Amino acid sequence: MPAQSAKSSPALAGAVTVPGDKSISHRALILGALAVGRTEVTGLLEGDDVLRTAECMRRLGAKVVRLGPGRWQVDGVGVGGLVEPADVLDMGNSGTGARLLMGVVAGHPITAVFTGDASLNRRPMARVTEPLARMGAAFVGRAGNKLPLAVVGARNPLPIEYRLPVASAQVKSAILLAGLCAPGETTVIEPEPTRDHSERLLGHFGAEIRIVDAADGSRRVTLRGQPELTAAPVVVPGDPSSAAFPLVAALIVPGSDVIIENVGLNPLRIGLFDTLIEMGASIEYLNRRVAGGEPVADLRVRHSALKGVTVPAERAPSMIDEYPVLAVAAGFATGTTRMNGLAELRVKESDRLAAVAAGLAANGIAHEAGPDFLIVAGKGKVPGGGTVATHMDHRIAMSFLVMGLAAERPVTVDDIHMIDTSFPGFGTLMASLGATLE
Ligand code: S3P
Repeated sequence: MPAQSAKSSPALAGAVTVPGDKSISHRALILGALAVGRTEVTGLLEGDDVLRTAECMRRLGAKVVRLGPGRWQVDGVGVGGLVEPADVLDMGNSGTGARLLMGVVAGHPITAVFTGDASLNRRPMARVTEPLARMGAAFVGRAGNKLPLAVVGARNPLPIEYRLPVASAQVKSAILLAGLCAPGETTVIEPEPTRDHSERLLGHFGAEIRIVDAADGSRRVTLRGQPELTAAPVVVPGDPSSAAFPLVAALIVPGSDVIIENVGLNPLRIGLFDTLIEMGASIEYLNRRVAGGEPVADLRVRHSALKGVTVPAERAPSMIDEYPVLAVAAGFATGTTRMNGLAELRVKESDRLAAVAAGLAANGIAHEAGPDFLIVAGKGKVPGGGTVATHMDHRIAMSFLVMGLAAERPVTVDDIHMIDTSFPGFGTLMASLGATLE
């Protein structure tokens, strides 16, 4: 369990590129495996979570080959063509990999057993097994459908119309992936739109997909089942959720001026950037373009005096993974930042609300955490000096290392090895900007 400390650093400067988008990387491998022909993926995130998905797609019958850094090739088997894996599918720390692949297996007449690490095996899976059971799959899991869990895929999957009880792109995607194998139309109704990478990529691979926004803010996503998906190249942009760490570091370390190149700016992913700009952050979008069907830009970020704001609950789906690092930024702001609608944070890689609150407490930041909210009383400076328990959570580790770069005393996190799940090379990238990590 390697610990690491971050110390007050000189002004951060330079240009960096963050690893590929985790959500898009999982989906590119999965849809490549379900398409007919050879898909080439560039910019794939080579973090542990995505490598697990690559290995599982091999076990399910696709040919998945690494051609070079970030360059991967997938020979797909076609919708309905996957085979029963000979061994357990170990998804490691990855909730996205587990839930999306449960959807894939549910639509095929095969049986697969899923497991994960201690963090993943604690996470709720009923949110996917419930709709997938309606489509005809069966599940035997531990303690109310937790992993380890066996999925018996449907012989004749049924299309369903399903209203998501919680805003979750993973659940939406699991249903759509199972719906690929069902005849007729599968519809998912989202209370609030969540990241739409599955929809964009399904369309890119030739599926017929319709999206209708209702007046009440909900969104209806309809997929026509049993398409022939055709292999298509996928260019993965940099992950905005990873860019968040050097970005907040540049905002809080005095004198910093940093460029983060090729960051995905999908409108359903940039709630953090919008919030920070409201707080007074200097973030410029340079060289805006579209790459691989997603908007991208280079971000120029300069040290900024931040002020507290209220973050509306409706914004949560577009920044769900970014609250830990926003809480850190809020600690350096002046005034109170209120974050609402955070119930889902309790069921991420760790209970992120509890982990963030404990980290803020350990480093002298006044705050109040409730069942689904967090209030941070920013004083413009952070005492630091604390040790933070990361609970096998990559984003807790990175968030509090960022805090240490501008705190008065060093901040230590108890375990950095999970950072590789989403951001391999984090320490080296931050050090290249001038961050003091030891
Ligand atoms: C993801 C969706 C989100 C997010 C996760 C990635 C995805 O989870 O937290 O890191 O790729 O679909 P939920 O769908 O559970 O909100």
